[in-house]
Amino acid sequence: MKRVLIIYYSHSGDVARAVKSFTKYLNTPEIELTWECIKPKSHYPYPWNLYKFFDVFPECVNGEYPEIYPPEFNQDDKFDLVILAYQVWFLAPSLPIQGFLKSEYAKVFQDTKVITLVVCRNMWHSASETMKKMITEVRGIHIDNVVITHQGPPLATFVTTPWSLLTGKKHRFLGVLPAAGVKDEEINALSRFGERIANNLTALSDCSHQPIFNGLGAVEVNQRYVIPELIGRVIYRPWAKIARFFGQQGSWSRLPIICIFAVHLVFAIPIVLILSAVIQFLFAPLIHKKIASYVEVLKSPIGVS
Ligand SMILES: Cc1cc2nc3c(=O)[nH]c(=O)nc-3n(C[C@H](O)[C@H](O)[C@H](O)COP(=O)(O)O)c2cc1C
Repeated sequence: MKRVLIIYYSHSGDVARAVKSFTKYLNTPEIELTWECIKPKSHYPYPWNLYKFFDVFPECVNGEYPEIYPPEFNQDDKFDLVILAYQVWFLAPSLPIQGFLKSEYAKVFQDTKVITLVVCRNMWHSASETMKKMITEVRGIHIDNVVITHQGPPLATFVTTPWSLLTGKKHRFLGVLPAAGVKDEEINALSRFGERIANNLTALSDCSHQPIFNGLGAVEVNQRYVIPELIGRVIYRPWAKIARFFGQQGSWSRLPIICIFAVHLVFAIPIVLILSAVIQFLFAPLIHKKIASYVEVLKSPIGVS
């Protein structure tokens, strides 16, 4: 009998749907599944209101996570595998997920194999690297990482994702743009990962720490987004520090700076995209190798699939 703990947090239901499909084939007599939905002590409304949406930005970037209610699983329990499903908020793992990983309850990861499942619009590189560090800090053994992103071209999701987060609606935007969130087919196809685990249960007890999702297309990295994300990360940090200087989450004193940040973002994103394209075009021979090796890092722990 293998014991698998599934830890997740879901706001609109995207992550919940994804992890349910992911674990479909784990419902077998040989596996005992334990589900843990993270409950943060801070409230994050869904649908979001515009101000609250931007007001979580500084804490996401600065790593100022909320406290977490005690989990339901027994804290002395030992598991063979932890599946951690999370979403990206402002290029970082969402605040409730950060809160869990920084809490005393994260000792459940210690010396235990961990598989991560990331669900987001399409900018996950920084969050994924932050997550790898957090798992290492709690001495988890990160063996696999799966990433799925929202349907449609990135420019369309730039409209459909915020629209659905702010309205709670997911249907086709104006009947023209694709529906918000992850495509049903892609959600359903996640069951192939659980199936691979169910067929390789012995891999959970071996000491090799090898990935088990080789060849399943767990992570696809689009090189075009590497530079925009790196620039985004550089721009976000000073903004997050300045906003935090003006006050805590929810405080009126930082309202003006959060509003300025939100307006700045609307202009900054297209500028960053154009700048990235120019950098990539002009300096291609110089940066090609560096980008290629960073892509390999992003694909790890699985590597080339
Ligand atoms: C405050 C906030 C910030 C977000 N920032 C990002 C981001 O930086 N990159 C990205 O790809 N998606 C981002 N998203 C989109 C979410 O990752 C995406 O909607 C995900 O599907 C949410 O899953 P859930 O609704 O189950 O929690 C953000 C969403 C929220 C609410």
